[in-house]
Amino acid sequence: MTVSSAPGKVYLFGEHAVVYGEPAVPCAIERRATVAVESRDDDRLRVHLSDLSIDGFTVEYSGSTDETPDVNVSESLVQAGIGYIDAAIEQARDATDRPDAGFDITVESDIPLGAGLGSSAAVTVAAIDAATREVGVSLSSDEIADRAYRAELTVQDGEASRADTFCSATGGAVRVEGDDCRAVKSPELPIVVGFDGGAGDTGKLVAGVRALREEYEFAGDTVQSIGDIVRQGERAAEGDTEELGRLMNFNHGLLEALGVSSRSLDNMVWAARDAGALGAKLTGAGGGGCIVALDPTDETETALRFTPGCEDAFRAELDTEGVREE
Ligand code: PMV
Repeated sequence: MTVSSAPGKVYLFGEHAVVYGEPAVPCAIERRATVAVESRDDDRLRVHLSDLSIDGFTVEYSGSTDETPDVNVSESLVQAGIGYIDAAIEQARDATDRPDAGFDITVESDIPLGAGLGSSAAVTVAAIDAATREVGVSLSSDEIADRAYRAELTVQDGEASRADTFCSATGGAVRVEGDDCRAVKSPELPIVVGFDGGAGDTGKLVAGVRALREEYEFAGDTVQSIGDIVRQGERAAEGDTEELGRLMNFNHGLLEALGVSSRSLDNMVWAARDAGALGAKLTGAGGGGCIVALDPTDETETALRFTPGCEDAFRAELDTEGVREE
């Protein structure tokens, strides 16, 4: 058996705009998806998912039977999860030239599904690494990132950026602009995450922004302005967390204008700001899920715990390690 893990991430800046070639800066956090892979004698896949939520409930799903998953996340989310694993295994088969390889796969994750913390990228990256190593092939983190991106593209109907998968494969803070992916110096950031217990449909939200962009020129300008925020953030003096916070607030406002926030995300953003956070914004596709705030004190975490609609709040440390063998 071979076991790999890969981290989730928060977007400091740039989600959605990155789909249209603007830069984005995601940052890996110490919440991981772990994938265990064991070769089978036949060409089948058997997938077992467990602990797919911060709350720790268990999803039991066997890809080889008709059993219905007993879960309190929507079945479509579970099916999406299975889709990422299938696509990851296709990439692993291709990379190892073993088109008929079959595997038993167990996924455990402490990253909530579809909540903007990069759960699908982390599972995809860890699954490619574990499945290739299980058959004796070791890929570089760049190749894993590239193959995970291709896997996401197939599952997301051609709408994906390289941001999530590159960040999860390499760890740390990264900057992604089109095909240009690079590590950036990881600033020590006091990251707090608020989670509303929900999830957004990435495909639908990305399509919504695309439609707005096609209809209104100013929506296109809004997407470009998000890119300007990222460029401004890069010019901020090292350690100027206050400036980064102000820019995050601005970024959230523009995402809100593009229709990808929600009442609970806005509530958490405002609770964080009222508690004295340096800045707060939604992270990932939006629609529901998580916000990211910067606050070196305990105030934001405490305030979020008492905010209606916030199900969990926690401090997230930057994870400098990407995909790794367990
Ligand atoms: O919510 P997540 O973690 O799937 O992030 C989606 C980020 C988008 O920019 C909206 C899409 C993408 O592929 O970059």
